[in-house]
Amino acid sequence: MSGLLGDAPTRPASEGVRELRDAYGRVARDLRVSLTDRCNLRCTYCMPAEGLDWLPRESTLTDEEVVRLVRIAVEDLGIDEVRFTGGEPLLRRGLEGILAECARLRTRHGHAPELSLTTNGLGLDKRARALKEAGLTRVNVSLDTLDRERYARLARRDRLPDVIAGLAGAASAGLTPIKVNTVLMRGVNEEDAVPLLHFCLTHGYQLRFIEQMPLGPPHTWRRTEMVDAAEIHRRLSEHFALSQEPAPQGSAPAAVWQVAAGEDHPAGSVGIIASVSRPFCGACDRTRLTADGQIRTCLFSRSETDLRDAMRSGASDRELADIWIGAMAEKKAGHDIDDVSFIQPDRTMSAIGG
Ligand code: 5AD
Ligand code: SF4
Repeated sequence: MSGLLGDAPTRPASEGVRELRDAYGRVARDLRVSLTDRCNLRCTYCMPAEGLDWLPRESTLTDEEVVRLVRIAVEDLGIDEVRFTGGEPLLRRGLEGILAECARLRTRHGHAPELSLTTNGLGLDKRARALKEAGLTRVNVSLDTLDRERYARLARRDRLPDVIAGLAGAASAGLTPIKVNTVLMRGVNEEDAVPLLHFCLTHGYQLRFIEQMPLGPPHTWRRTEMVDAAEIHRRLSEHFALSQEPAPQGSAPAAVWQVAAGEDHPAGSVGIIASVSRPFCGACDRTRLTADGQIRTCLFSRSETDLRDAMRSGASDRELADIWIGAMAEKKAGHDIDDVSFIQPDRTMSAIGG
């Protein structure tokens, strides 16, 4: 048989390696998968107090569908890191099963993909060990204050002790390095920056401040009110000895400063993610999948590309991969938050996945 085709390679030479490359030459290696739009908190910068409709169950991808799309991304499209998000991903019943299946996948370099989780930490203390055993590598935990009353106001639920317990549980299960994400808001929790860094240095958690982005309820974000990276750096520098320069960033969005040991805390580091004041869109290596199976090429995309209905009407792996490649080819250069033309996407953060 082979004589008929001569020595033709099995793939046409023109096809090259299949990957998620956009028109600006960026290649996605990092997939964010939202597993649910539901959450047991109501953080003010993310969700309205009430009245947000959840996705109907039948619109949400099943565990098998999630695993299939992750497999296509990892095995056929060059993704090597998968971050599960929500809403709150711990609310997804099949989480451990999804992780176990994804941990069995192999990237084209022959290793398992890195599997991480962005969580609010509620219930993490009880789940950490099982998650680790299922193949989870590490966690990012959201925590904006160490003051119980402020936490209750900000997250609209009195659950601070659960988060602290969740962090400790993750540490003892070895889900490390543990990163803590903090959003500072003017007049709300700016004074929490210093105690949070002290807490994280003491516990060996890596704290990262994220500039607040316009992804919450409509009309709740004002550029002029944002606590920006420069201000966060200034505030921290008054209490901690930060290195002169942040370490080089690559595609990682956080600028990371070393923090020298002090009288009452060990040495460590702190990250600041200047998503708004210094966008890192040029180095973006992400692609996103919503809980209802839509590709978003950016947090701020105003359009999405469907994979769920295509999959449910019988598309092959190859066809689904082609749809994904086509969507990424249309990825915009940047988010333009700082431009007057900026329009906030319809979905809030909880329905996109952080
Ligand atoms: N701006 C910046 N970060 C946000 N997060 C949620 N909403 C916003 C916003 N509007 C963060 C959460 C969590 C992660 C998923 O994204 O704090 O750490
Ligand atoms: Fe829930 Fe995270 Fe949104 Fe807070 S930021 S409401 S924890 S999804």
